[in-house]
Amino acid sequence: MSLAVPSEEAREPESPLRIGPLSVPFPFVLAPMAGYTDAAFRLVCRRAGCGLTYTEVVNAEGLVRGSRPTLFLLETLPDERPVAAHLYGRDPGVMAEATALVERMNRFDLVDVNAGCPVRKIVAKGCGAALMRSPETIRDIVRAMTAAVSLPVTVKTRIGPRADAIRALELAQAAEEGGAAAIAFHARTTDKKHGGPADWNTLARVKAACRIPVIGNGGVTTAEDALRMRRETGVDGVMIGRAAIGAPWLFDSIRQRIRGTAPAPPTPTDRKAAMLEHLRLLALLKERDPRRRRKSDRNPEVGAALHFRPFLLKYLATTRSRADIARRLQSIHSLTDVVAMIESAFANTA
Ligand SMILES: Cc1cc2nc3c(=O)[nH]c(=O)nc-3n(C[C@H](O)[C@H](O)[C@H](O)COP(=O)(O)O)c2cc1C
Repeated sequence: MSLAVPSEEAREPESPLRIGPLSVPFPFVLAPMAGYTDAAFRLVCRRAGCGLTYTEVVNAEGLVRGSRPTLFLLETLPDERPVAAHLYGRDPGVMAEATALVERMNRFDLVDVNAGCPVRKIVAKGCGAALMRSPETIRDIVRAMTAAVSLPVTVKTRIGPRADAIRALELAQAAEEGGAAAIAFHARTTDKKHGGPADWNTLARVKAACRIPVIGNGGVTTAEDALRMRRETGVDGVMIGRAAIGAPWLFDSIRQRIRGTAPAPPTPTDRKAAMLEHLRLLALLKERDPRRRRKSDRNPEVGAALHFRPFLLKYLATTRSRADIARRLQSIHSLTDVVAMIESAFANTA
């Protein structure tokens, strides 16, 4: 399969990503990631220059029921917009109702449909990646959502369930017919989950065939990868997931590369400051978390410290071995413990 020739506009690395009426000037965006893309991490990424972020995955039924833990997933912090509310569900009526609720919150810029999550619990309910079996359901969901609100509606899906069943064009067509303002493709098939190489050739093909903007995702680990994806596939936007965890400054590195300045990696002082600010925002957010049922979680600061552990593993990956960090993480029970671990990691680097 040969690569499609991207248009001149698409080759311009910093041309805005247009999603209906929304213009995202810097077209490099943070992927939705359950357990990670809460308001604190999103804001840290926005401050590092990320153009658009997505919430964690939110159950549309839970939202309609008024579930407090579900509503907490839609908490935002000042100055983090634009943000997409990322919903899962399979019933067009419920998805439309949930979308209308999101619009009334007045703090989101678009609503995104999860049509690619491979997690068993979600697929068993006919949601997430299960929707790829039925492009007409995706079309109907998007149609019902766009009829219910004036916010743009988008879809995030995968290129297909398996390598011998690539459905990207069919899925893009269904989203377009429903009235989606853009579509994001994780360039791996469902059976590969998050492993193996991403298929950028399919991204290029679907971009060439699609009328709505296409956001490419999968296999971007460096700033250079991000620019290469845009250059080689012509996608309108590039979505980055795991590479931003513990390295939100990746977005700033992309901007530096585009501007032609040699990317200056963050200094230890910058990295330490970013981590402490992330932790502070998380503690602020945790004060609103209704899920503090267990004794250990009752104190929002403790909740923040525990939640920060997987981020620490990534943030400190360049300073210590993974096994050493993982061992030290076991002894984290408070914000003070986290701060002490950060201080000790940077003790000899000032
Ligand atoms: C921990 C984790 C949670 C994720 N949660 C979601 C999710 O809720 N919804 C979704 O559409 N994709 C989810 N993804 C997939 C990412 O959005 C992205 O498509 C995938 O990680 C590939 O991008 P990457 O190679 O840049 O990481 C998740 C991925 C990870 C690693």
